[in-house]
Amino acid sequence: MRSIGTGTLETERLILRQYTLADAEDMYSNWASDPEVTKFLTWPTHTSPDVSKKVLEDWTAQYSDGGFYNWAIVLKATGSVIGNISVVRLNSAAEAADVGYALGRAFWGRGIMPEALKAVIAFLFDEVGLSRVAACHDANNPNSGRVMDKAGMKYEGTLRQAGHNNQGTCDEVWHSVIKSDRV
Ligand SMILES: CC(C)(COP(=O)(O)OP(=O)(O)OC[C@H]1O[C@@H](n2cnc3c(N)ncnc32)[C@H](O)[C@@H]1OP(=O)(O)O)[C@@H](O)C(=O)NCCC(=O)NCCS
Repeated sequence: MRSIGTGTLETERLILRQYTLADAEDMYSNWASDPEVTKFLTWPTHTSPDVSKKVLEDWTAQYSDGGFYNWAIVLKATGSVIGNISVVRLNSAAEAADVGYALGRAFWGRGIMPEALKAVIAFLFDEVGLSRVAACHDANNPNSGRVMDKAGMKYEGTLRQAGHNNQGTCDEVWHSVIKSDRV
């Protein structure tokens, strides 16, 4: 496994890159201030651009850590930052990561997050050298499960009342891809 940190990735429609503090306005207005986006997430809806700026101050300070993987999703067509995808838990011994993501509502339904997730999965396997990439969603948020399906993850199981988010306690639906799935 290599601790190479958040590298820039490119797909057909997207650039995935490290955040800068200048992204705070896009972060706030495109997704972090929208309670529909944060409905099934674990962090509170941002109440001002200053909250987004503080979050970005924290994240950008961590890019020097090679085990920190957190991308701004940039729509090439406009140059705007429209969402986030990151490793939320890294188990170096198992060479395994859990990922999470959120996208501005105006951009839902165009297959953007599956495109981003596929690129992140490829990076984590091929560049970082992981053996497993997993993700979970609230059972009441099947849209996120569709993203996992489209990115080639397989359903693993449902952990009853194992999670907690802005809706309260929830059943966690887990998906993963392991190295041997990718031949
Ligand atoms: C889940 C999410 C990332 C999906 O991203 P996306 O780029 O829209 O993904 P897709 O375009 O592949 O759409 C996935 C599913 O969302 C649903 N969907 C699509 N457009 C939608 C819209 N405008 N409104 C509501 N649901 C929509 C569809 O069921 C779609 O599945 P389908 O393609 O089989 O019909 C996005 O909805 C989001 O950011 N939600 C809020 C944050 C979140 O839940 N993150 C995941 C936490 S585990």
